[in-house]
Amino acid sequence: MSEKIEPGKFISLEGGEGCGKSTQASLLKSELERKGISVVMTREPGGTPTGEMIRDMLQHHASGEDITPIAEVMLFAASRAQHVSNVIRPALAQGQWVICDRFVDSSLAYQSGGREIHLEQVLRVNEIALDGCWPDCTLWFDLPLEQSRSRMTERGAAPDRFESEARIFHQRVGEMYVQLHQRFPERIQRIDARHAVEEVAAEVMGCLEKLTGGRI
Ligand code: TYD
Repeated sequence: MSEKIEPGKFISLEGGEGCGKSTQASLLKSELERKGISVVMTREPGGTPTGEMIRDMLQHHASGEDITPIAEVMLFAASRAQHVSNVIRPALAQGQWVICDRFVDSSLAYQSGGREIHLEQVLRVNEIALDGCWPDCTLWFDLPLEQSRSRMTERGAAPDRFESEARIFHQRVGEMYVQLHQRFPERIQRIDARHAVEEVAAEVMGCLEKLTGGRI
């Protein structure tokens, strides 16, 4: 009789610009692999060839035409549906852990919070895209807006369509993450992203130890 594979855990990382989640995603991958866990690291928008094409449209204004807020919700959701069915679900089914740099909560924070589309509408579209594939744990890297902005200035790279949005847009994104944390208290764990990289990494591992009942 074949041995039943225990599904992997699905971890998403979320937060505003410059919150340090991509650094933490790499550190987390190394730490889990050190513990013998097989990890797939992926990101949104993107994660599949189709998703990367959509990423280009969304971030760099590839068509030159303004994208309406609703079209933006649906493009992110289309990329997500592809990602869930071609990458995330198959990896979890094989017992791998999936670390995803941004996922559904980015749409809730940026398209509902930032673009002010009704939260229930954005949720409804995304429920279709996810088809039940919600993260087991979402790590929300909470960073005050002032720090986020000064990190972006230090970085000095040319801003994309989202980074160049006005301060008020990013303020609404931050406020929506607070609201989401209250709405999904079991799934979304708040991490204080003001701390040093090593301290934040320790907090991340603390959350995952809790998630697995100390099994990792
Ligand atoms: P990216 O270069 O991946 O930036 P970051 O390092 O901040 O993750 O850019 C992704 C941008 O797309 C980011 O500004 C947030 C935005 N976004 C949405 O607006 N909605 C979404 O559903 C996702 C996944 C990302």
